[in-house]
Amino acid sequence: MSLRQLEVKALTAMEAMMEHQALAAEIADHDLRYHQQDAPIIADADYDRLRQRLGAIEALYPALSAPVSSAVGAKPSEKFSQVRHRVPMLSLNNVFSDQDVRDFLERIKRFLGLESQSAIALVAEPKIDGLSCSLRYEQGRLVVAATRGDGEEGEDVTANVRTIADIPQQLQGPVPEVLEVRGEIYMRKDDFLTLNQRQEEAGKQAFANPRNAAAGSLRQLDSAITASRPLRFFAYAWGEIIGERPADTQAGMIEAFARLGLPTNPLTRLCVGEVEVLDHYKQIEAQRADLPYDIDGVVYKVDDLALQARLGFVARAPRWAAAHKFPAEKASTTLLSIDIQVGRTGVLTPVARLEPVNVGGVVVSNATLHNEEEIARKDVRVGDVVRVQRAGDVIPQVVEVVLSARPAEAVPYLFPDRCPVCGSHAVREADASGKLDKARRCTGGLICSAQAVERLRHFVSRDAFDIEGLGEKQIEAFYQDGVITRPQDIFALEAYDAASLKKLKDREGWGPTSVRNLFAAINTRRQITLNRFIYALGIRHVGESTAKLLARHAGDFTQLRTMILAAKEADSEARAQLTAIDGIGPVMADALVDFFTEPHNQEVMNALLAQVTIEPMEQVVSSSPVAGMTIVFTGALERMTRDEAKAMAERLGAKVSGSVSKKTNLVVAGPGAGSKLADAQKHGVEVISEDAWFERVGGQG
Ligand code: IVH
Repeated sequence: MSLRQLEVKALTAMEAMMEHQALAAEIADHDLRYHQQDAPIIADADYDRLRQRLGAIEALYPALSAPVSSAVGAKPSEKFSQVRHRVPMLSLNNVFSDQDVRDFLERIKRFLGLESQSAIALVAEPKIDGLSCSLRYEQGRLVVAATRGDGEEGEDVTANVRTIADIPQQLQGPVPEVLEVRGEIYMRKDDFLTLNQRQEEAGKQAFANPRNAAAGSLRQLDSAITASRPLRFFAYAWGEIIGERPADTQAGMIEAFARLGLPTNPLTRLCVGEVEVLDHYKQIEAQRADLPYDIDGVVYKVDDLALQARLGFVARAPRWAAAHKFPAEKASTTLLSIDIQVGRTGVLTPVARLEPVNVGGVVVSNATLHNEEEIARKDVRVGDVVRVQRAGDVIPQVVEVVLSARPAEAVPYLFPDRCPVCGSHAVREADASGKLDKARRCTGGLICSAQAVERLRHFVSRDAFDIEGLGEKQIEAFYQDGVITRPQDIFALEAYDAASLKKLKDREGWGPTSVRNLFAAINTRRQITLNRFIYALGIRHVGESTAKLLARHAGDFTQLRTMILAAKEADSEARAQLTAIDGIGPVMADALVDFFTEPHNQEVMNALLAQVTIEPMEQVVSSSPVAGMTIVFTGALERMTRDEAKAMAERLGAKVSGSVSKKTNLVVAGPGAGSKLADAQKHGVEVISEDAWFERVGGQG
């Protein structure tokens, strides 16, 4: 099913990410057509809906807004001409722990053939969270400014960069003939807040974080807009230099930049050896929250440019530099409410709705609470002040409760036992040892719209109702249009179509013949064997073989239903009988009871019973010589395929297993049978040939 048709609330995190990307790309395409080609292809209202949907996804998954929305609306415009970087603009390798830093230094020393004890001089400076830009100065005059782009080619943003007060049009003092200065364009946190306020007052979209605001502001077609945005710059690297390079060290270059009138970062330090480097990292980390701009780590660069040249690059990053990233950012905020989302498999996921809080540059207003157990373990209560964490682009999480700030009236959270989407019971399953599953699931699979398409798809699948011409694609389309929303609708389709003004044959992808064929295919399935019917219901833990087991045992549907409803009480006689069936354990029994007692499911089953005739399962020859046996087929069979062999044995009342154990009664071995023969010997299991098998079962198969 196309994700576009799902409600934002129903998307899984992964789906949300995919949908976000797709929307961003579509919107960017429409922006291009509208702004640059003056030829929009959709109505404004439809465009707004795409935007709204994107906004809704970002509201639910704030982490998504950071990486992609910089491409939204601010997509590299065709009107910015491209600039090829004479020296590519590279990225940095990341390190996370102190040990990673040591390893980074060791690698450098090994590469250079230096003693492990020797101390390397490095420049350590904050990693600014903005966007990098290359400024080309010829004879000291700014001639071209370009974004990083893909590292090889960027966009020509010269006109916009000329409006940035931090960036000199003319460098001061003696300067190489050509000097490409590289650094970060960024927006200060306070300027970002003011800008967002202004945006909101003007009814415009607010930016998710300072970095997005900086990127969006720089990539304006109208430089007057860029001029009105408070952008700033730090110089920290360079590209092409023609003429005399101002210094032989990284630190010397930064000093030279400052002398030329370029802004450089005041937290830049020359550190010798690992201890000094890590010490500076900790100092910067301690100041992080108070810095006027966002940073996401500390960058280390080998100071000696001759060593840098020897070290060179690996792939797209220099061997002589690394970005030491900060750990996940945390912030405290108030938990306003807990919403429950229902996934496509029926799992209920709690989502924390938070008082919006800035966590490492991203405004977070939702976070995951994982599951019921996590809420209970952390004793998270509505009204609590909670610590929220965000690491990279993952979905923010609630890590803990600030107990000292708990309001007196806060009460323990009661996880709902009803599905918020369809109202059916939501249960936590217990495994054989009685341990509860972490997930609570909606049992209303057949009617719950969060799960409906998945269930309908299963209902018509090959081993269930097997309705030809009704595949996943058709089910999705029919569901979206409200033509088929419940299993019973399939059998009412012909009557529905007869009464409908919008005929199926006029739908895209359909014609008179295919519609006729579909009705015929549906009609041939108005008779169905009990086992297929049970399987089609999509009861949890009830696969094909369990369905057969139940069908064989119960004989008909009424019996089955009576048997399961009677087993409702955990310690009842009927429950004992149900779990006494070989192959039905307590987990399955629970699942069956949950399913059959749910009124919504009863409704569906009753409606189906009115439409279809359930036939007994294909008769098993219970008097067969192999009835009740567990049989293993191994080696190459010559008179039948493995599937045929399995079907035949099952028809004869035997169970087919894939491996030999002491429970195995018979092994049928063809040529080339390997380890299973040895296993059979070990367990003293009878082994016969394929011919002997046919002799034994006679004409019965
Ligand atoms: S040096 C050859 N220094 O980080 C090395 N980059 O992850 C070039 N960045 O694209 C980069 N602050 O946008 C360097 N002090 C700093 C930085 C910095 C931020 C960004 C830059 C680069 C990215 C790489």
